[in-house]
Amino acid sequence: MRVLVTGGLGFIGSHTVVSLCENGYDVLIVDDLSNSKISVLDRLKTITGKDIDFEKIDLLDKKALNDVFEKYTVDFVIHFAAFKAVGESQEKPLEYYQNNLGSLLNVLECMREHKVYRIVFSSSACVYGTPDFCPIPETASIRPQNVYGRTKSICEGILQDVYSAMPEFSIALLRYFNPIGAHESGLIGEDPNGIPNNLMPYITQVAAGKREVLTVYGDDYPTPDGTGIRDYIHVCDLADGHVAVLKKLKDSSGIFIYNLGCGKGYSVMEVIRAFEDVNQVKVNYVIGPRRPGDSAECYSDPTKANIELGWKTRRDIREMCRDSWKWQQYARSHNV
Ligand code: WQD
Repeated sequence: MRVLVTGGLGFIGSHTVVSLCENGYDVLIVDDLSNSKISVLDRLKTITGKDIDFEKIDLLDKKALNDVFEKYTVDFVIHFAAFKAVGESQEKPLEYYQNNLGSLLNVLECMREHKVYRIVFSSSACVYGTPDFCPIPETASIRPQNVYGRTKSICEGILQDVYSAMPEFSIALLRYFNPIGAHESGLIGEDPNGIPNNLMPYITQVAAGKREVLTVYGDDYPTPDGTGIRDYIHVCDLADGHVAVLKKLKDSSGIFIYNLGCGKGYSVMEVIRAFEDVNQVKVNYVIGPRRPGDSAECYSDPTKANIELGWKTRRDIREMCRDSWKWQQYARSHNV
């Protein structure tokens, strides 16, 4: 069975490719390299020992994408490719709507034309906005508070409508919480362009001396230590969740929504302390003002995925910190 993975050279996409290969799937990566590097492909082949097909395609070029569906037999699509920087999405709404919605529409039209009906969509906890309560179930209100989150929410709506009109489709909407960590080999990991938006890559770059100091965005939240609480999930556990949901889509048509998180929250300070302890390195930080749009806490109730997919996270925060650091050291020493 072949899985077409859009954005398969990105952070979550590349780790999912490893899990797919380990579970016997053939993989075809489609990526435009706008936020990833072709060198990841060679390292994926090193990790998996498998030949992985790759096509450099802009998903907004529907003819080019259609040619890929003509060239390869595709059984499933996992659609990761999207712009995903929350802050940037507020500054460039047109680009975000054009890219994130347009690419999904092209993927779905090509799937329909080629009678490919099973798709996993990369959604985000961002669709919940500031939750009324935690842990957050899939039935929580959908109230995205930024352009990025709205693109994900609208894409979920598109997929709901596609299923209503064409029940031959089998669709999974996976709402990720905070993926961090890296593959145990240290050969692939989170590799953001420019200044990292997210906590863990910023921590690793400060620990490596690439950046001076981490700013902790607020220590006056109503949380035990005053800093923001999030549901960090090891990217390899997240990848395994995609393999688990393919089994669901293979056996049944429908539309299935799952939170993929560990169901536990860690504060910024707890992450910093865990990182320093497991890696025996210092993370220089200062306390700064709250970041606009941040909530005090956001963590998942992953019970539905645990039960229906037989999937749950296996790696803890210390492994996430250890693996993130191992990747950062590899990236620095190999000038990735
Ligand atoms: C985590 C915590 C910050 C950076 C975002 C997207 C979400 C998903 C994951 C795509 C918060 C604090 C952070 C820093 C800090 N991405 N922080 N200093 O905001 O929970 O989620 O990334 O799907 O959609 O919204 O993740 O890593 O930015 O922040 O103190 O330099 O770390 O305030 O409490 P977030 P994050």
